[in-house]
Amino acid sequence: MKIIVIGAAGTIGQKIVAAIEDGHEIIKVGRKSGDLHADITDPGSLKELFEKAGKFDALVNASGDVAYSPFRELDDSHFDVGYKSKFLGQVHLVTLGKDQINDGGSITLTSGILSHEFVPFGSAGSAMNSAIETFAQAAACEIGRGIRINVVCPGLLEESAKAYGSYFPGHIPVSGSKVAQFYKRSIFGVETGKVFLAIR
Ligand SMILES: NC(=O)c1ccc[n+]([C@@H]2O[C@H](COP(=O)([O-])OP(=O)(O)OC[C@H]3O[C@@H](n4cnc5c(N)ncnc54)[C@H](OP(=O)(O)O)[C@@H]3O)[C@@H](O)[C@H]2O)c1
Repeated sequence: MKIIVIGAAGTIGQKIVAAIEDGHEIIKVGRKSGDLHADITDPGSLKELFEKAGKFDALVNASGDVAYSPFRELDDSHFDVGYKSKFLGQVHLVTLGKDQINDGGSITLTSGILSHEFVPFGSAGSAMNSAIETFAQAAACEIGRGIRINVVCPGLLEESAKAYGSYFPGHIPVSGSKVAQFYKRSIFGVETGKVFLAIR
């Protein structure tokens, strides 16, 4: 299978690539890293990416930002970060990628634990992670041509605990290799319209 992995050089992306690369053609994508370059917040760059990549069998995204803010300081700018990246960026991967993906292909997006479990400063992130999960579930119902769409919702990774653990008091981190198995299940399995909770 020909598989595009956006964010392949990242913490989760590297684990995904390690879990799926055997016997498959992997096209690694990042803004600066990878075989091809694209920014999910820039639809023009995504159109160029899909033109360059040609037809493919699976698209996986392991990139996308949300902003953290104390609730009292929360304003539109915090929602804007997640809206343009985690939400609309991934919506564009589906709406622009669907014309280049082969019949029966799969699209796997990424949300994050904030859609299901809440932490201080996380309101904007919770909303955007939830929004992309709901979009994917609805889009999976009508995309057609046997194309499957799923979302992996990772918990705090062990590999990221040092950097982000203070935002997640009391959370037990999950290993990146375990999280990668949920992406593998989405890519090579039969399920669609699912949110895989890779949180423990
Ligand atoms: N790590 C965690 O514990 C955790 C937990 C829950 C959810 N998540 C979610 O999982 C996703 C990946 O997290 P991560 O920790 O693996 O991130 P990461 O280590 O920062 O890696 C992100 C990767 O995506 C690329 N990238 C970043 N912004 C991009 C953009 N706008 N367009 C295209 N590529 C972009 C980066 O490469 P370039 O710099 O070359 O662009 C990099 O390879 C994020 O959506 C994050 O919210 C992570």
